[in-house]
Formats: sequence, C-alpha cells, structure tokens
Amino acid sequence: MMPPAAADVLAMAGDQVLTAARSAWPGAEVVPGQVTPSVTSYVQLITVDGRDLYAKTSVCGVSLVSLLRGTCGDFETVRARQAAYLLSPDSLMAREAAQLRALAGPAGLGTVALAGYDRGVLFTEPVPGPTLADLIEAEPGRTRELLGTIVRDLAEGLAREGVTEAVESAPIRERGIGGTFSRKFNGLSGGIYLRQTGHGEVLDPVVARLRRTRRIPPASGRTVVFGDLKPEHATFPEDHGRPVYLDPGLMHGHAVADTAKLVSRLTLGLIAHRPAAAAVALSGIDSFVRASARRLPAQERAAWLGELVLLVLMDTLNILSTYLTAPAGLPLSAHAAAVRDRARHVADLLDRATAQLAATEDGATWWRLYMTRVREAVAACESD
Ligand SMILES: Nc1ncnc2c1ncn2[C@@H]1O[C@H](COP(=O)(O)OP(=O)(O)OP(=O)(O)O)[C@@H](O)[C@H]1O
Ligand SMILES: [Mg+2]
Repeated sequence: MMPPAAADVLAMAGDQVLTAARSAWPGAEVVPGQVTPSVTSYVQLITVDGRDLYAKTSVCGVSLVSLLRGTCGDFETVRARQAAYLLSPDSLMAREAAQLRALAGPAGLGTVALAGYDRGVLFTEPVPGPTLADLIEAEPGRTRELLGTIVRDLAEGLAREGVTEAVESAPIRERGIGGTFSRKFNGLSGGIYLRQTGHGEVLDPVVARLRRTRRIPPASGRTVVFGDLKPEHATFPEDHGRPVYLDPGLMHGHAVADTAKLVSRLTLGLIAHRPAAAAVALSGIDSFVRASARRLPAQERAAWLGELVLLVLMDTLNILSTYLTAPAGLPLSAHAAAVRDRARHVADLLDRATAQLAATEDGATWWRLYMTRVREAVAACESD
C-alpha cells in the first residue's frame, strides 16, 4: 500500500473547502487564500464576498501526519472514506461547531465566532489580537498572572449549567493526553513508530518509564476540560480584556489536564525559540503551578503535582513524535520546525525527567526536578 501523497491530500481538502463554502453561501464570490500549516487539520483562509474567514476540515478524523503515514489506506481509499466522513453528523468538525456554540452559549466564554458549518467544513471569523504565547514572549513578567486568568476563566465557564450536557452530546476525546499517549505508543507498532522519529534509542526507555509509573489521579477535580489548551489557542483581542478561545477539544477529564497542556507547550516553546527572557517566563510557570497546588487541600497536592508532571511529559512526547514523523511534503509551522531542530534537547529533557520517576513517588519532588531539567534544556539550546 502506498501512503497518500501530501500534495494530493492537501489539494483534495482545498477543493472540499471551496465546495462547502459555495454550498454555505450560494452565489457568493469565494476566493481561496493562504493555507495555515498544521499537523492535524486542513486550515485555510478564504474570502466570501470580501469577508475573511478561516475554513477548517479534518481528513477522515485522524491527524494529517497519521493520514500521510498511511493509517487510513492509500489515496483512493482516503478519498472514498473522506467523502462519507464529511457528511457524518459525528465528524470532528461537526462536533467542533457544536462545542463553539456551547462555549459561547451556556459556558459564557469568549470564543471565535462561528460563521458556518457545511459538509464537514467549519468556518470561523478571524480573531485578532496577540495569543497567550505572544503575550508571554513580549511580557514574560506577566506569565503567572496570564496563566491564572485563563485557568480561572475556563474553570468558571466550563462549570456553568448546561455545559456538561452540551459536551456529552458532542465530546472531542481525540485531544486527551493520556488517550493519545496510549494510542501512539501501544505495543509493537509503538516501537516501530518510535524508531521512525530518529530518536528511538532515547525515547524507547522514556515510553517504558512513563508506562511503568503508577498513576494515582487526584481524588477531586473531575470536570469538563478545554482539552487542547495550547498557548496559541487563547488570544487577547483587548489589552487586559477577556481571553478568546479557539480549537476546543471539550471532554470530561481532570482539570489538571488543561494546566498540563499549557505547561508542556509553553516550555516546549521556550526551548525551541530560546527567547532572551525564558528564565523569567519559567519562573512565572513555576510560581503559577506552585500557587495552584497550594490552593488544594494539603492531602491532594502531591497527587495533583504528580499527575501534572506525568501528563506534561506524555504530552511533550506526543507532540515531539508527531513533529518528527511528519512527512516531508507536509508544510510545518515555524514552531513545529523549531521543535524539530531542537529535538535532541527535548528528547534529552524527556530522558532525564523520566529517569527520576522511579526514585520517589512524591509529586512535589517530580515537579521541582522537572523544572530543573527544563532550565537545563533551555541553557543547552542557548549554547548550541
Ligand atoms: N478563527 C481564527 N482566528 C484566528 N486564527 C485562527 C482561526 N482559526 C484558526 N486560526 C489559526 O490557525 C491555526 C490552526 O487552526 P486550529 O488550531 O483550529 O487547527 P488544528 O489543525 O487543530 O491545529 P493544531 O493541531 O496545530 O492545534 C490556529 O492555531 C490559529 O493560528
Ligand atoms: Mg490548533
């Protein structure tokens, strides 16, 4: 079986976006624009009668990297499956549309405006303003405050009446950290996959250690989580105003998962981009996490920190391996390319941070050591 070629898949998705736009706005002038590099979905700016919109579609419900590695068969098979997938009421984009409505409705949160949904394609209005990642880079001294704003805002919104019901009818479990880790690294195929990253020797033991470590999820805190809380998925159109969110993956989970994704992706960004003030941002992350733990009942703190560190490490491995196995024809974002360039340092960080897991079961110690290893990784990148 020949895996599909990136150019064929991207061209097919581009056609499907145009067809959906013409169906959603009959008679309108639709002009395709720039494609946003993504390892997950096909995202493209389009203009509909002069109005700019982001169009987004998922090919067969799996990431573009998996698809191009042949997970859903050759191109002809993909084309047939995609035709059915686009019309499925449970497609990822149909659920994402429902989730944007839930965020703006019962959750009362700021979110990108849904402009339409048609034939498996989601259309949203562009949200202006810096992202959380931009703000932290520009003002690293505000890291703790900004993280607090987002985590509090989401916790309040996602706990509001009606949100649970909305999420139960259209959950997006695809972005869950633990589920993604198990899916990618189970058994035999996991080993083959790891070798294809080019860093299998370092990452093999990392997976083994993470799988061996007993997880003791914190007793309380199960709730609706945002699910894909990356620093580029929260924007601040107004200075010191309310955050606006995009690309939700709402599901039932433990609240610590959202903090874990933020921590993992922010530290990865600091390692990859080596901003001058990385140390300040890292202190902000550290102090935010410690303050969050202190607010919990004393007997829950260690379990919360322990689960946080395990999820951070799993998520870092999940995304590192995705970036490393992306086929050459798939355009990568500047961020993804930068992480690939520093892959050795990220793999070393994972190696050192997981080597310590067996030494103690104390979550507070895991967190302290994780931060030390991150600081070392940033320093190692600086001296490259
Ligand atoms: N409505 C919008 N306004 C502004 N930017 C947007 C909008 N929709 C998408 N984008 C941009 O396109 C990027 C990719 O979109 P999105 O996150 O929805 O897709 P994705 O395939 O899930 O990406 P990833 O897996 O990288 O998170 C976003 O991070 C953002 O930069
Ligand atoms: Mg995204």
